[in-house]
Order: sequence, then C-alpha cells, then structure tokens
Amino acid sequence: MSQEEPVLINFKSVTKSYGSIVALSDMSFDVKKGEFVFITGPSGAGKTTILKLILGEVLPTKGEVRVDGLNLANLNDKNLPSYRQRIGVIFQDFKVLSDRTVYENVAVALAVIGLPEPQWEERVKHILRLVGLSRQANFFPSQLSGGELQRVSLARALSINPKIILADEPTGNLDWKTADGLMDLLEKINKEGKTIIMATHNMEIVDKYKKRVIHVDGKKEQVDIGKEPNNKKDNTDEIKDIKEGEESHPEGGKIKEK
Ligand SMILES: Nc1ncnc2c1ncn2[C@@H]1O[C@H](COP(=O)(O)OP(=O)(O)OP(=O)(O)O)[C@@H](O)[C@H]1O
Ligand SMILES: [Mg+2]
Repeated sequence: MSQEEPVLINFKSVTKSYGSIVALSDMSFDVKKGEFVFITGPSGAGKTTILKLILGEVLPTKGEVRVDGLNLANLNDKNLPSYRQRIGVIFQDFKVLSDRTVYENVAVALAVIGLPEPQWEERVKHILRLVGLSRQANFFPSQLSGGELQRVSLARALSINPKIILADEPTGNLDWKTADGLMDLLEKINKEGKTIIMATHNMEIVDKYKKRVIHVDGKKEQVDIGKEPNNKKDNTDEIKDIKEGEESHPEGGKIKEK
C-alpha cells in the first residue's frame, strides 16, 4: 500500500460508554484508503464497538470519528442513508434472509439502496460470480454450507458498491479451510480497492495473513500485541506505533510482530 493514500477513517481519542460501562476508551488510529486491517483483542474489549462507531450506529461519548472526511457526529436523517451506502457489513452469524434465494438476498440489498430494477440482474450476476456463488443463485440459505452463507452475506455487502467492508468475526462459524477460502476472497476484494476492517479472535488467521493489526485490550488502554496490558500508554504512543508499523510493513503495516 502506498504511503500517499488518503486517510479514510480517523478515530481521535474516542471513548464510547453505555452508562457506566466503558465499551471503548481513548482510542486513536487512522486507516488509509485501500488498507486491510485486523482489529484484535479479548472478548468485551470493544472490537464490535469500533465497527458500530464506523457504521454510525453509535456515536462517541468523547472524541471524534471521521470517515471519508465526514465527522459522524454530523450524521442526520438526511445524510445517514447515503453514508451507510459507503459501507458493507458482514457478521459471524451471516444475517442472510432465510426465506429468499441467494439471488434474491442480493437483489433485496439493491432494492434497499434504490437501484432501478432493470439494473439488478446484471449487478447480482456479477457479484455472485465474484464470490463464486453463480451455481447456487436459486438456492435457499437452508441449502447452503456455512462458507457459502458467509459468501452470500459478503455478496449482499458488496452489492451496494461500498468503499469500506466491515467484518465482525466473519470466520467465527467457519472451519479452518472454509475460513481460509473467505480470507482469500476478502484479500481479492481488498486488492480491487475496498478498504477492509475485520474484527477477529482468530490468531491463526491474523498470523497467516500478515495485515496491520489494531489491538484493543479489555483494560480500556491501548496496547500492542505482545505487551503487558498494564503498560499504560497514552494516545500519542498509539498513533506513533501505528505509523511505525506502517513504515516497517509497507503492504499493510502490522503494528507489532509477535
Ligand atoms: N448496548 C450496550 N449496552 C451496554 N453495554 C454494552 C453495549 N454494547 C456493548 N457493551 C459493552 O461494551 C463492551 C465492549 O463490547 P464489544 O461488543 O465492543 O466487545 P467485543 O470486543 O466485540 O467482544 P467480543 O469479542 O465478545 O465480540 C463490553 O463490555 C460490552 O458488554
Ligand atoms: Mg464483538
């Protein structure tokens, strides 16, 4: 990845609390256009919260989230739908429509964004080819394997032609080989220009795919992989570490090797 790519996502000292529960504390990082980033950390550390903040589903309690130049605190009823179209999301539990075929699952996503119906068929066929599901176009979700279901979910996410793909534990319900297949597909999509942010517990995948890693820890401090959770680091260090990581890994910039 080129160092000159513009910053697409910027977290500036972001804290998200739910009442007295601090879901994410003082988090700062940048993601550049075209990056593929893993978000790692223990359960409850705030990984899903980061994805929800990027999606504009929740707003920071403190700090600022900017995506594609837009301060998400300025999202309103008018600009939220067009903002959401810049982002495709996939989840651990697939979230496909069980009473619709594979084809219809993707077509519904196009209907939601208001694409005129005559354009659906070409777009759906193209996306199903991309994710390797052309043969299953008329199958219902109950007739598909876990890996295929996740590819339906990815097809739905991609169909709106988003700039960013958010993936929350997308391999969580897949066996190793199927997870590997999904990762290859995500890499291909990333090479075609999509920025990908993937929250994961799967350290085998993190180790194998050598992407940049943003680690959040459950202590609500930002630490790098391999460091003691009690090593209190301030926000400046976090930004510095990410930059160092990018320099030493020009193709993705892992924060720190294990
Ligand atoms: N709507 C909510 N109301 C109250 N607390 C919440 C809410 N959403 C998340 N939390 C809390 O915020 C913390 C971070 O949650 P989050 O879902 O971001 O963690 P995570 O890193 O994604 O965990 P996991 O790996 O288990 O998915 C947790 O302690 C969680 O219980
Ligand atoms: Mg989560």
